[in-house]
Amino acid sequence: MSKFWSPFVKDLVPYVPGEQPKLAKLVKLNTNENPYGPSPKAIAAMQAELGDSLRLYPDPNGERLKQAVADYYGVQTSQVFVGNGSDEVLAHAFHGLFQHGKPLLFPDVTYSFYPVYCGLYGIDYEALPLDEQFQIRAEDYARPNGGIVFPNPNAPTGCLLPLAAIERILQANPDSVVLVDEAYIDFGGETAITLVDRYPNLLVTQTLSKSRSLAGLRVGLAVGHADLIEALERIKNSFNSYPLDRMAIAGAAAAFEDRDYFEQTCRQVIASREAVVAGLQDLGFEVLPSAANFVFARHPGRDAAQLAAALREQGVIVRHFKQARIAQFLRITIGAPEQNQALLDALKGLV
Ligand SMILES: Cc1ncc(COP(=O)(O)O)c(C=O)c1O
Repeated sequence: MSKFWSPFVKDLVPYVPGEQPKLAKLVKLNTNENPYGPSPKAIAAMQAELGDSLRLYPDPNGERLKQAVADYYGVQTSQVFVGNGSDEVLAHAFHGLFQHGKPLLFPDVTYSFYPVYCGLYGIDYEALPLDEQFQIRAEDYARPNGGIVFPNPNAPTGCLLPLAAIERILQANPDSVVLVDEAYIDFGGETAITLVDRYPNLLVTQTLSKSRSLAGLRVGLAVGHADLIEALERIKNSFNSYPLDRMAIAGAAAAFEDRDYFEQTCRQVIASREAVVAGLQDLGFEVLPSAANFVFARHPGRDAAQLAAALREQGVIVRHFKQARIAQFLRITIGAPEQNQALLDALKGLV
């Protein structure tokens, strides 16, 4: 702390991202990255941008990417916002759509960046408990609020909320924005983007970090009514006019255009997930039903923190959260088949 800080800075509790270890040989199953590389077409598009044109600023609106997203989802470009990772898109949404003097609602077990943004933007929140099976109870979200946010599938549980339940939340809250964070939707869920024309209070965010394997590029997006998108544009244009660089716009657009590669790699991750679930169950783990590229699992006879530490000693990193309700779970990213096998082999010796 220093006398030069703006006073609120001393009270900020920043988000702690999963470890990005420097050692190359680790089996890294801790931050939900995709084991397959980005689309070769995305890489070619980025390589084509890597040249003299970098002396020029990029398109501040990222139109090429907005068009690719709009074409993919059958919406207008005025319904699409793009930003530097979905974390940035979420931050703008919290800033521009959730400051209404009433608490923001989200689940007690969820993406741990939400309370951090609340701290940054001075937003009160209520964390509503998931049910005994770690599912979101749609009926809980019918109380006074300044907005609602949850991931679908939820993180770190991986559990999916059906679109019908999302519609019930939207209908119960016509005066609040309901933000559905679809970071993991492509691994087994149905997107709520199909609902944006019917619900002007729905904003859906997505990322290219997971199903399109571009975590290193930092690209995220939002789709919703043009009025909601305009709020995000106003915030963005008051903060950073050029959040996406030339390579990010070109690479992300090409990734959206390459449906075949996207669908094939998602299918491979889903097939591996089913194999990992079966392998964990054989070892006595209870695994929550996952529609994501990770699983959330606990062992009735082994402490999760100790398991995570023991795995690490064998070169396998998974994510463990200290929060009381989930302290006995491990969140395990689905990797390539040989990584998943290394995880199961290491666990065999530990449980
Ligand atoms: C639920 C959820 N939302 C958003 C993000 C942010 O993704 P990114 O900023 O890489 O787009 C993550 C990343 O792990 C996440 O788990």
